[in-house]
Order: sequence, then C-alpha cells, then structure tokens
Amino acid sequence: MKKSAQVVAARHVLWLGWKLVILLSLSLCLLALFRLHSPPNYYSSSSSTSPHLDVLRRRGAGSRFAGTPKLAFLFLARRNLPLDFLWGSFFENADAANFSIYIHSEPGFVFDATTTRSRFFYGRQLRNSIQVGWGESSMIEAERLLFAAALEDPANQRLVLLSDSCVPLYNFSYIYSYLMASSRSFVDSFLDAKEGRYNPQMFPVIPKERWRKGSQWIALVRKHAEVVVDDEVVFPAFKKFCKRRPPVDASKGKLNTKLQKQHNCIPDEHFVQTLLSLNELDTELERRTVTYTSWNQSATKMDTKGWHPVTFDYANASPRQIQGIKKINHVYYETEFRTEWCRANLSSVPCFLFARKFSRGAAMRLLSEGVVGRFDASSLLDSTP
Ligand SMILES: *[C@@H]1O[C@H](CO)[C@@H](O)[C@H](O)[C@H]1NC(C)=O
Ligand SMILES: *[C@@H]1O[C@H](CO)[C@@H](O)[C@H](O)[C@H]1NC(C)=O
Ligand SMILES: *[C@@H]1O[C@H](CO)[C@@H](O)[C@H](O)[C@H]1NC(C)=O
Ligand SMILES: *[C@@H]1O[C@H](CO)[C@@H](O)[C@H](O)[C@H]1NC(C)=O
Repeated sequence: MKKSAQVVAARHVLWLGWKLVILLSLSLCLLALFRLHSPPNYYSSSSSTSPHLDVLRRRGAGSRFAGTPKLAFLFLARRNLPLDFLWGSFFENADAANFSIYIHSEPGFVFDATTTRSRFFYGRQLRNSIQVGWGESSMIEAERLLFAAALEDPANQRLVLLSDSCVPLYNFSYIYSYLMASSRSFVDSFLDAKEGRYNPQMFPVIPKERWRKGSQWIALVRKHAEVVVDDEVVFPAFKKFCKRRPPVDASKGKLNTKLQKQHNCIPDEHFVQTLLSLNELDTELERRTVTYTSWNQSATKMDTKGWHPVTFDYANASPRQIQGIKKINHVYYETEFRTEWCRANLSSVPCFLFARKFSRGAAMRLLSEGVVGRFDASSLLDSTP
C-alpha cells in the first residue's frame, strides 16, 4: 500500500512536470505566433523613438499647412556654387515667399558677398555640414541633413535636390507650378536584374525584391522627405553593406585583385529609391527624375567608371540643344521594358525641369537666351563682388 502510494505520488509529480512542460511550450508557441503577426515596424516613421516625437509633432503641422507653400531648393555643393549668377537671375523672377534655399557645402564654407555673386545664397549653408566622399554613404548623410533642415520650415511642401552643376530649364513660376501641382514625388526608380550591387548581407533589412536603382536627383513631397530623414534602419544597412569599390591603385599591388573582387555599390543611386519601396510608397511616385543628364555612351565597357555624364559647355548648350531636352516627353527603362510618359497631376508635361552638368559658359548662354526669365545684363554688373 505504502509502495503503491509512493508510486502514485511519483506519477503525480511526473504528471505535474509534463503539464508544466506542455504549458510552457504552448505559451512559447503562442508568443512566437504573436510576434509573427506583428513584426517590428521598421519602416514607418511613426515607430521613431521618443527624441523624434517632438520633431514629428512639429512637422505634423506641415501636412495641413495653410499659408503659401514653398519650394525648397537643396544644393549639394563641393564648395561654392559656380552657376550662382544664373540661379540669382532665376530667383530674381520669383516671389520671395514661394521658395527657400539650403546648401550643403564643405564644413566651414560660408556663402557671403566674398564667395557668391547672388545675395539669395548669403548664409544659406548648413551649419552642421559634413565632409562628403563623392559616391560614398556620407553623400546620403549630407542629403539627409539638407532634407532635415528644410523640414524645419512647415512652409516647405516640395523639396528638390540639386547639384552645384545643375541649371533650371524654365523660369521660376513654371517650375513652381509643375512641382506644386503634383502630389507625388519625382524619383527615378527601377529594377535592374542584371546588376550585382545588391548585397545579400542586407537581408532581412532589405529583401532583394525591394532593391531599386535610380538617379540621385530627386524632388520629394514633404511626406516622403520625412521618411528619408526619419529612417534609422535602412541607412545603417547601407553604411555597412553598400560601399563603392575603390579604383585600382598601383601602389597597392597584389591587394588590388582582392579589392576588385569586393562588392561594388553606389549608395546614392539606391538609397532613397529602396527606402521608399520598403515603405511601399512606389505608387506615390512619378518614377522618373526631373533632372536631365546626358550620358556619354561612347565610353568603353572596359572603363571601370562606366558611362560618364557629358558636361555642357558654351558650344553644346545651343538653343536647339536646350529645346531638344525640353521637348522630351517620355523615358524608356530598358531593364523593365517600361515607357514612362511624363506626367504631373495626370497631365502630360515635359519630363525635365533641370539639367546637369553645366559649365559656367553653358550657364551664361542659357542666361543670355532668357531661359530663366528676361535677361538684364546690368544686374550682373551690379552684383559682381
Ligand atoms: C515662364 O515660362 C512659361 C513657359 O515657358 C511661360 O509661359 C511664362 O510666360 C513665363 N512666365 C514669366 C513670368 O516669365
Ligand atoms: C507664389 O505662390 C502663389 C501661391 O501658391 C502663386 O499663386 C504664385 O503664382 C506663386 N508665384 C510664382 C512667381 O510662382
Ligand atoms: C490636379 O488636377 C486637377 C484636375 O485638373 C485639379 O482640379 C487639381 O487642382 C490639380 N491639383 C493640384 C494640386 O494642382
Ligand atoms: C565621351 O567619352 C569619350 C571616351 O571617354 C571621349 O573621348 C569623348 O570626348 C566624350 N564625349 C563627350 C561629349 O563628352
């Protein structure tokens, strides 16, 4: 009797043990299931941690902004703006209440009467600018600093990123109404199955099907600029896994073979496109750029730098050439067999508002042809430092 009681007691303990194990694994299963159904919300800006909440709240006013909406011009410059005389004339023909200017230049570079011919640029440099390596992730950081600065002003409803060699192809009011009329951003974004820049190590932050390529020169609506600035997940993955392969350097000898096998990636040709795609914002984009670049296709395949943008100089910036660019109304994306008919707010429009890369001579020619507005030679003489 005693013995059997002991056995029963032992069985009871065993049974309790089993129950505990089953209960534990059941709750673990449930927990796992729950986590599966609510994955961490990486990409929505609302998941930002508390330090950003103030900014988000302040910015929230931006979407309901009631005053005159501004177009923000964000210049990514190496140092000065060599085409300031053309831009000066362009802004001369604008309403001061309709635009704002931000410049990211090398740290310490100040825009004043000694460094620029146009008063519109005085003091417009960011104070927190960084040293930029062309084609490196610091370029994206600089872009983000520009967008962040512009978002501080709730009036900035459209934000266009430009380089120091960009020119406007129209007067201010044309460009303003074109960009304001569109509730979509203009972001060149396409799939390129042939290229090997996607780095599998980016998974799972960036799944391969979300990888996009496209021009760095973008025009964003405020909402999308916020996504770019608030991202805390995709950029670190880019910083780590999307790096430009260094050019062959004879002094490195045998190391070159190893370096040239390294993954090659140009961050600024992928970041915004991929980030917006991860946020499922592809449908809120016009998937093309508003900045024209002429590519020199005669550069050979052997050339490690690939195609080069052609620089326009006085001779090839003729009215006929410029008219030719302005007449373009569609873009063909070879890798996707996609023809993009250029539209803004559903109307057909010319594809390009800006163009790069322009020399001073070419910009001078645009100015004298009256491309950005009536040309008044005396204004140049007045403002020459
Ligand atoms: C601006 O350019 C557009 C199109 O080229 C033209 O129709 C318009 O008259 C110009 N406006 C001004 C103020 O020059
Ligand atoms: C400035 O903005 C107002 C309001 O959007 C608009 O009516 C006006 O045409 C703009 N001025 C220019 C020069 O584009
Ligand atoms: C877009 O076009 C529609 C129809 O032509 C027009 O009613 C609307 O005001 C336009 N939107 C903007 C933002 O200009
Ligand atoms: C295009 O590239 C080739 C070879 O690199 C060069 O010789 C030529 O001058 C370039 N053309 C233009 C228009 O830049």
